[in-house]
Amino acid sequence: MLAHGSAAAASRLSVCIDTASVTASRDQALAEQVAAKEGVALDVAHFDSSDDDDGVTLKEFKKLLATRCDLVLGYPVDVSAGFAMPDIMQTKAYDQTGFVLVVPAGSPAKNLADLPKGTKVAVTFETAPNLYFLSHPSLTPDVHTTDGDTLKAVADGSVAAAMVWQPTVRSYMAAAPAAKLSVYPLQEPHARYDVVALYTARGADEAKRFNDVLESLSPAGFDHAAVHKQSSSGFDRGMIRRENSGGFDPAMVYRTAVTAGSDALPALYTDSQAAAGAAKFAANCQVCHGAQLQGLVGPALKGPNFASVKSAFAVSDIFMIVSQNMPASNPGSLAKDDYVQIMAFLLQQNGYPAGGIALTYDGATNSNVPLVYHGQ
Ligand code: HEC
Repeated sequence: MLAHGSAAAASRLSVCIDTASVTASRDQALAEQVAAKEGVALDVAHFDSSDDDDGVTLKEFKKLLATRCDLVLGYPVDVSAGFAMPDIMQTKAYDQTGFVLVVPAGSPAKNLADLPKGTKVAVTFETAPNLYFLSHPSLTPDVHTTDGDTLKAVADGSVAAAMVWQPTVRSYMAAAPAAKLSVYPLQEPHARYDVVALYTARGADEAKRFNDVLESLSPAGFDHAAVHKQSSSGFDRGMIRRENSGGFDPAMVYRTAVTAGSDALPALYTDSQAAAGAAKFAANCQVCHGAQLQGLVGPALKGPNFASVKSAFAVSDIFMIVSQNMPASNPGSLAKDDYVQIMAFLLQQNGYPAGGIALTYDGATNSNVPLVYHGQ
C-alpha cells in the first residue's frame, strides 16, 4: 500500500498549456492521456505567451512552475544546441519541430542539395536559415520580413523554395488552403527541435511519471506514432507555439537561455587573446567592418543588430563565418590562432567576460553558447 504522502502527491497531474500555441489542443489531449494512464485527475492551467512580445522568459517559466503547475507542456529545444536553463529541467521529447524546406507540390526537391545552382530560396530576416546559405553557396537568398511573406513567395511561384519555422507553415496553409506546398525537415544546424515539457525540482516526481507514461505510449501510443510518420502534406506534426504575428519565435529558446545567464555569462577567452585579437582585427577586418565594429562595406560586428537574440547565432556559427569566409577579400587566409584571437575580441566587444581559460580553435568551432550582444 502507498504511504499517504506519496499517494496524495500522485493524485493529480498538474500541467500548464500555452493557449497561444497551435498545439494547445494536442497538448491537452496528451495531458488527458497521461493522466488517464496514471489514474489521476488532471489540472490544466492556461497561460498566453502571445501576451508578451519577448516570448516567455525564464523568470516566467519559473513562476509558472512554482505557482501553477508541475509541467509546462510544448517547449521547443534546439537539438544541436542542447538545453541550458538553470534550475529548469526537461522531460523526454514527445514531439519534434523545427525549420523546414517548403517547395511547390510536385517539386522533386526534398532538401537544399537537390536545388539547382542559382535557385532563389526565400527566408525570413534574422532567422537561423539565413546561415544555411554559407554551406550552400550556390543558392541565392531572397529575404523577407515575415514568415507569411516568405511562404507567399513560394506559394505564388516567385521563388522555388522557402525555409521557415515549421509551425507557421500549418497556419499559413490553413489560411491559404489553395496553396499547394510540400514540406520537408531541413538537415542543417539549428533546424531540428524536440518538443518537451519543462519542470523544476518541485515537479521531479511528476516528471518521472510523465516520462514513464511517454515510454509506455511508445511506439503505438498518442504521439510517437504520429510524430515520426510524415503525413501526406509533409512534415507537419509538431506544430507548436504561436501562430499569430508571424509565428513562434524560435529564438525564444536562446532568449531564455540568455536571460538565465546574463548575470553569469560564460568566460570563453582570456584578456591577452582579446588584446591580440584587437590588433589583428585592425589589420585584417577594420577596413570593411569599421574601427568601432560599426559596419562599413561589411555589416556591424557588435551591437543588437549583429548578435540579436532573434538571429540565434551560436559562437560556432560566427566562428565558422570568420574562419572560413573572412576576410571577404581573402577567405581563410589567416592563421588559426589569428582567427581565435579575433573571435576572442568579438566576444569581448559583444559583452562577454574574459576568464582564465583560453579559447581554442576546436572550442570556438564547437561552441553552442548563444552569441547575443550584452553591451549597452
Ligand atoms: C573586403 C571586406 C571585408 C573584410 C576585409 C572582412 N569582411 Fe567580414 N564581411 C564582409 C561582408 C561584405 C560581409 C557580408 C556578406 C557576407 O556575409 O559575405 C561580411 C560578413 C561578416 C560576418 C557576418 C556578419 C553577419 O551578421 O552575418 C562576420 C562575423 C565577419 N564578416 C567578420 C569578419 C572578420 C572577423 C574579418 C577579419 C578577419 C572580416 N570580416 C574581414 C566584408 C569583409
